[in-house]
Amino acid sequence: MRHLLSTRDLSRDAAIELLDVAEDMADTQLREVKKLPTLRGKTVVNLFFEDSTRTRISFEAAAKRLSADVINFSAKGSSVSKGESLKDTAQTLQAMGADAVVIRHPASGAPQTLATSGWIDAGILNAGDGTHEHPTQALLDAYTIRKRVHGSASRGKDLDGLRVTLVGDVLHSRVARSNVWLLTTLGATVSLVSPPTLVPVNTTGWPVAIGYDLDEAIEGKPDVIMMLRIQAERMRDAFFPNSREYSKRWGLDDGRLGKLQATTIVMHPGPMNRGLEISAAAADSPQSTVREQVTNGVSVRMAALYLLLSGDREDA
Ligand code: CP
Repeated sequence: MRHLLSTRDLSRDAAIELLDVAEDMADTQLREVKKLPTLRGKTVVNLFFEDSTRTRISFEAAAKRLSADVINFSAKGSSVSKGESLKDTAQTLQAMGADAVVIRHPASGAPQTLATSGWIDAGILNAGDGTHEHPTQALLDAYTIRKRVHGSASRGKDLDGLRVTLVGDVLHSRVARSNVWLLTTLGATVSLVSPPTLVPVNTTGWPVAIGYDLDEAIEGKPDVIMMLRIQAERMRDAFFPNSREYSKRWGLDDGRLGKLQATTIVMHPGPMNRGLEISAAAADSPQSTVREQVTNGVSVRMAALYLLLSGDREDA
């Protein structure tokens, strides 16, 4: 794997390989092998132009558990505030010996630009670009679903036959986009439920059904319900129903939690707006995988770094 930029262009086999390698990584952690020597001598740069807790820290933990050196770069407090361009910033990091660059950027397409511009040689991992994609989040979500459904017999398996409902602010959600592509590639049937004003204008070619009524979706007994964060910071001119109306119509509150099948998995990528898109009881219920998702994120990012940096890097 040369870069990891999106899930749209991941084949089923490549996705399964990533999930299987992530399981191998998780097994080493269970055996309390805290550090593998695999990426000794490699340098991973975390290049974050937007805030992050889970993604940045888990990429750092993943790289360190593989014995790579890690450089953390945050745009805040850097020369980006003096107007330095993405190209000059990236080439500065390359000059310090970056083998892989993990980039989060507010502009959709920034990781693709780094990967295709020829500015740097490093492998690029997309850690979330604008409203476009967040591939490692979708991979850790798929991993979490697969693990809950297939348990210890999950290696090599896909998500065939599972029905997954994504709920909320699809318009601004890179997590939703990456999950739509990945989960359908893995055989799941994906549906979206959202206020009409928070559905993207153009969903041509998306392999999903789109609905607006969460109660109707719950009556359909989904296997997985994934609540999306309301992205207030990106709302700009999108019409957002007021918070009370939103949680009443599209929030997973205690009443709706009680109507889910006992086996339905409740997911949220974090950070959560408790009381808005998800109640505290739903977030903390035994059906919730919120904390498992975070734990699994480290194994999935170890797998992505391993496949990118060990051995010869093939063209994607
Ligand atoms: N899920 C996710 O991307 O969280 P962070 O913004 O904290 O990285």
